[in-house]
Amino acid sequence: MSVSGEVGAGPTRVAVIGTGYVGLTTAVCLAHLGNSVVGVDVDEAKVARMSAGEPPILEEGLGELLREGLGSGRLAFSCDTAAAVRGANFVFLCVPTPQGADGAADLRFVEQASAQIAPHLAPGAVVVTKSTVPVGSAGKVVAALGRDDVAVVSNPEFLREGKAVEDWLHPDRVVIGAEQEWAANALSALYEPLGAPIVVTDPASSETIKYACNAFLAAKVSFVNSIANLCSAVGANATDVIAGMSYDRRIGADHLAPGPGWGGSCFPKDTQALLRIAEDHGYRFELLEASIRANDAQFDTVVGMVASAAGGEVSGVRVAALGLTFKAATDDLRDSPAISVLSRLAARGARLRAYDPSGPSASDPRLDGLGLEVCDDVYEAARDAHVVVVLTEWPEFAAVDLARLAGVMAGRGLVDARNMIDPGAAKSAGFAYVGMGRS
Ligand code: UGA
Repeated sequence: MSVSGEVGAGPTRVAVIGTGYVGLTTAVCLAHLGNSVVGVDVDEAKVARMSAGEPPILEEGLGELLREGLGSGRLAFSCDTAAAVRGANFVFLCVPTPQGADGAADLRFVEQASAQIAPHLAPGAVVVTKSTVPVGSAGKVVAALGRDDVAVVSNPEFLREGKAVEDWLHPDRVVIGAEQEWAANALSALYEPLGAPIVVTDPASSETIKYACNAFLAAKVSFVNSIANLCSAVGANATDVIAGMSYDRRIGADHLAPGPGWGGSCFPKDTQALLRIAEDHGYRFELLEASIRANDAQFDTVVGMVASAAGGEVSGVRVAALGLTFKAATDDLRDSPAISVLSRLAARGARLRAYDPSGPSASDPRLDGLGLEVCDDVYEAARDAHVVVVLTEWPEFAAVDLARLAGVMAGRGLVDARNMIDPGAAKSAGFAYVGMGRS
């Protein structure tokens, strides 16, 4: 049924359910565009913090837009789902879809949120699924809502953590998967001020686009990591090889930096979920399986590099890790490759200290079992270390004072798993330097 326009006139009203980095970024950016937005979360302390203008996560530009929205009166936060949803033109579902025990995405929070908003939705409201959900989930949201006077639209996000605000305001494209044309048009109009290409599809295609993008990017990183490993084997220089590849516009430079493997809150769970989706539909996605295997092997590759730098074994060796987050510019430790590498080193008896500019707490449960001492700066972490290993690409690691670093260490091993440090300068400072595909 066509019910577009039945929700009241006036400024567009938006409710965002779930204020993780995707939901909160969506809320502040929609308020920035002039909409009236309420961000809803179950966590009362977090709601209080956001209402006071304090972003709960490290994300560039988020604090400014948060305070701008609160100051303009266009942005508010609440634990009251019913009140936020009542009268909203758009309700964005931004709740987590964690990896279930069988690899598939767990839709529990999406279904719970749908059931919770259902009685309060205004006729003609558009429910927008931003959570990453298995192909066919739009139908499950429709069923959980049980309302034929509202629309359900898939609208995946392509936000990089650390650059989420920039990516939201300047997207390469907006993808909208809708059954009803009026709902696709309404959501297109909401995004129209961004001036980005808008791809309108059916919901299954939109849901597939999200997984296809993350699987492709993860495969691209696995590929470049494999090329770097090959460079080490054949004596080529990975930095030069990658530069030579990246100028080819068909390849491009993005997601072509070798490292200790990919991680974070998205690639690991989304690649597993896509494997599972494919399997459930009778297709074996072998290329994706190989990308995941290559990624697991990459953690061991870095452990092997540390072991070689320590003279063959890591038991009893003091290792200083520079970086703990899964990438720079975030304080997110979820599925961090740094932690995957460190847990393998800990299992082999290494003694670990670490420094990360985001200031993680030593009591973070993700660091449990590592016996890790979290330090306040690079030099404190490196004190008496035999080997330093760079695991996250924080810019300050590229500017480290190598002479000072060498001065505080007991050994001279420098494993640069992010190719941050100039090999020539490291060697001049007396280090035995090894990077990813270069030495
Ligand atoms: C990723 C996608 O890039 C976003 O488009 C997507 O919206 C998001 O997942 C999501 O699904 O929500 P993100 O997880 O923030 O974003 O991180 P990326 O910048 O893509 O990096 C993922 C991992 O790959 C990190 O561990 C990173 O260090 C690693 N990586 C990335 C490399 O090792 N080399 C690269 O060149 C790029």
